[in-house]
Amino acid sequence: MASAPVGVPRHVAIIMDGNGRWAEERGLPRVAGHREGARAVNRTVRACRELGVEALTLYAFSEQNWARPEDEVDALMQLLHDYVHEERFEILDNAIRLTTIGDVARLPAFVRIPLEALKAESANNRGMTLALALSYGGREELVRSVRRLAHRVAAGELDPDAIDADAIEDGLYTAGWPAPDLMIRTSGEVRLSNFLLWQAAYAELYFTPVPWPEFQRTDLEEAFANFAARQRRFGLTGTQALAAGGGR
Ligand code: IPE
Ligand code: IPE
Ligand code: MG
Repeated sequence: MASAPVGVPRHVAIIMDGNGRWAEERGLPRVAGHREGARAVNRTVRACRELGVEALTLYAFSEQNWARPEDEVDALMQLLHDYVHEERFEILDNAIRLTTIGDVARLPAFVRIPLEALKAESANNRGMTLALALSYGGREELVRSVRRLAHRVAAGELDPDAIDADAIEDGLYTAGWPAPDLMIRTSGEVRLSNFLLWQAAYAELYFTPVPWPEFQRTDLEEAFANFAARQRRFGLTGTQALAAGGGR
């Protein structure tokens, strides 16, 4: 995989929020906001690819979103299905590897089957990794990892004292991935809403009032410029971080 240019975050995670309110403010049904949101996904994937981002993780549907009204969930599933069909060539032509995090087994078959097919078809692409968080919850992901470890302890395969951060990480959907460098949330809400709770331990957070359907390449570039001006210290002093190559 190519390395991201200086100042560009290697791994960007986005909480794509504000579709429903964007639509409601215009007197439109919420699904119109989701439809417009899908266009913003297309723009953002393209911009990240062009700017040299290595991995982009998009929060598309949370574990908790299943509890929304049935017609909204159905509409989101239909849009996801359409996305996989409509973006297939764009993904393959741009050497993007599509993957997912979350409990995708819960997705209806008409979404899951073409999604899994495109994941397999794009698995060897090295241009950029696009991870869609679907039926994803950070707490649920941690529970799953911890439960796996408990089973191994119960089976006598694992010493409890050998459990460390790496062991927990190995059981996450994101095992082996670099952690997100920059996490963006649109629509003015300032919370994580169960997204990448473990992985975002040292992510730089960026909040913008722009609702997701209006998110443009310039908004992304603004977020990247803001990111580039920060010093990431990872618990060290500023001087130490600088010596370790931490910028500024
Ligand atoms: C984000 O937009 C998309 C999903 C959660 C699926 P919302 O649908 O949450 O929009 P708001 O936050 O209600 O405006
Ligand atoms: C987070 O947004 C989930 C996605 C963007 C997919 P929500 O709209 O579901 O989060 P809350 O309810 O505002 O915390
Ligand atoms: Mg929301």
